[in-house]
Amino acid sequence: MKVVIVYESTHHGNTKKLVDAIAAKNEVDLVDATKVDSVNYESYDIIGFASGAAFGKLYKKVTSLALSIPSGKKVFFIYSCGNNNKDYSKSLRTALEEKGCISLGSYGCSGYDTYGPLKLVGGINKGHPDESEISGAVDFYESLL
Ligand SMILES: Cc1cc2nc3c(=O)[nH]c(=O)nc-3n(C[C@H](O)[C@H](O)[C@H](O)COP(=O)(O)O)c2cc1C
Repeated sequence: MKVVIVYESTHHGNTKKLVDAIAAKNEVDLVDATKVDSVNYESYDIIGFASGAAFGKLYKKVTSLALSIPSGKKVFFIYSCGNNNKDYSKSLRTALEEKGCISLGSYGCSGYDTYGPLKLVGGINKGHPDESEISGAVDFYESLL
């Protein structure tokens, strides 16, 4: 099983903590979405997309790279967010399922957030993702294999 995770973690590196923990324990390629214009998905059996949440969705660059995936691939989603009260991967998952991809699942947790007025109060979710959220991401990933 060859796995790649395409990630975008530009706010505080919160999501990167999740994918780095996965890559530290598992054979997985990581691609920083902000550093590439395309991803060659063909050689991978499973493809993960990981990012923070912005305006109710996963980030734009990771989403645009995800939408160029070939039909039929197995995919999964990982995100961190300010308010962990909904599935921020839902719209991308639906779009990829409509392209014929198979979703293996999503993992989301809270992440330090200083966006907009939150900056004035020092942000929310300081210290997140914490150890248990990070190990939750690793457990989620390992449950997919
Ligand atoms: C421009 C912007 C918009 C955001 N919008 C949302 C949002 O709609 N919902 C939410 O829960 N968090 C939102 N957040 C918070 C981030 O999703 C959260 O801090 C996340 O952990 C950042 O991940 P990263 O450090 O990997 O980029 C937003 C943050 C930014 C910078």
